Amino acid sequence: MDILIIGNGGREHAFAWKIKQSKQCNRLYVAPGNAGTATLAENVDIAVDDFAKLGNFCLQHKIGLVLVGPEGPLVKGIRNYFESDPDLKNILLVGPGKEGAQLEGSKDFSKQFMLRNGVPTAKARTFSVAELEEAFTYLETCTPPIVLKADGLAAGKGVIICEKIKEAKENLREMLEDKKFGDASIKVLIEEFLTGIELSVFVLTDGNSYVILPEAKDYKRIGDGDTGPNTGGMGAVSPVVFADVAFMSKVEQQVIKPTINGLKKENISYNGFVFIGLMNVNGEPYVIEYNARMGDPETQVVMPRIKSDFVELLVAAATGDLKGKTIETDPNYAMTVVLVSGGYPGNFEKGKNILGLEAKTAALVFQAGTKNIEGKIVTDGGRVLAVTGRGKTLHHASKVAYETVESINWEAAYFRKDIGVDLQSMSDSIHKS
Ligand code: AMP
Ligand code: GLY
Repeated sequence: MDILIIGNGGREHAFAWKIKQSKQCNRLYVAPGNAGTATLAENVDIAVDDFAKLGNFCLQHKIGLVLVGPEGPLVKGIRNYFESDPDLKNILLVGPGKEGAQLEGSKDFSKQFMLRNGVPTAKARTFSVAELEEAFTYLETCTPPIVLKADGLAAGKGVIICEKIKEAKENLREMLEDKKFGDASIKVLIEEFLTGIELSVFVLTDGNSYVILPEAKDYKRIGDGDTGPNTGGMGAVSPVVFADVAFMSKVEQQVIKPTINGLKKENISYNGFVFIGLMNVNGEPYVIEYNARMGDPETQVVMPRIKSDFVELLVAAATGDLKGKTIETDPNYAMTVVLVSGGYPGNFEKGKNILGLEAKTAALVFQAGTKNIEGKIVTDGGRVLAVTGRGKTLHHASKVAYETVESINWEAAYFRKDIGVDLQSMSDSIHKS
């Protein structure tokens, strides 16, 4: 079948890489794509939220399956647009409708959903600007650190962790009164701080059945040792050593099953990915957030660990046919290091020549913010490349990734030097024993 991937990041390049290996994939398109996806598929110059153009393209090119990468078009209702059109509604689409995407689009909705369905999560209360004084009174009863979360989509920037109550009050005022995150902070959650180790679990569901994809840990801060501002993600590792059988069984029983059953019970049809951001608190899983899509850069380590035909799984998820399906995974480690433009996540320059991309490397090089200008690949965004190494141990995967990272360069390129280091000693001791 002919397939369209929507998006232009490293996640979409990794999707394209995996989908291209399927016998079921005939023509592959990516809208709008990047210089990396152009090496595997045909890029189509349509924005991710231009539903009318995307729909026309699908009809003209007889697309059989659409895979939606980022959250924006899901929250805006790309599925609802396709379903409400007599010609488009027969095209298979992976990604939930507007209602299901609220799991990511509204942190208040997702918190209430978790509470209604018995999914373990941090305690929280939601306030609007009219309730500012009440919120301040509530803050006085909280023990710092205090987590403030903008309700809506804020490009990964909507969470502020405050060490003092005074600081929490100032930030809350800025979010609610000054609309620091625009409409995303019309409502704000004041949430209990959880102490533990984070990991991300990914589920592909047809709304009834589900398969669990390889888990991953990502590195969100810009600086080594988890310092500096949050980013979209500076690296990721899969598998995650502490996500052993016992822990993953708790995740399935206490988090995944109640989540899928909750969607069913509440009549929210859902064909797509549920990305569950978890905190492991003394061996117990707590949900920090849901996303209605795969993670970036987590996809760049998850796809290389899936052995099964990915298109078959996507079709099953889109058609309600996941029951009885299993997913075969590669036990080897995958680790990705993200190379970013100097200055990111603040201001940065674009258009820098990327050197070293042509050489054959042991690692997989997934492109994100790149553009082909007259045959030269130049930087075109904050996160530019994700370099994924694979190996029997995390140490090996890391070596492969960093050797390739060192062979690529452009003016002011930056990357973290410590991806996976925190997990390495844990993993080495397991492999020695
Ligand atoms: P989110 O945008 O919800 O993924 O939050 C961004 C980051 O904030 C998470 O990856 C965590 O590191 C941190 N965070 C969010 N909620 C909590 C919480 N309740 N306790 C501790 N850290 C949190
Ligand atoms: N890496 C985190 C995300 O995709 O939201």
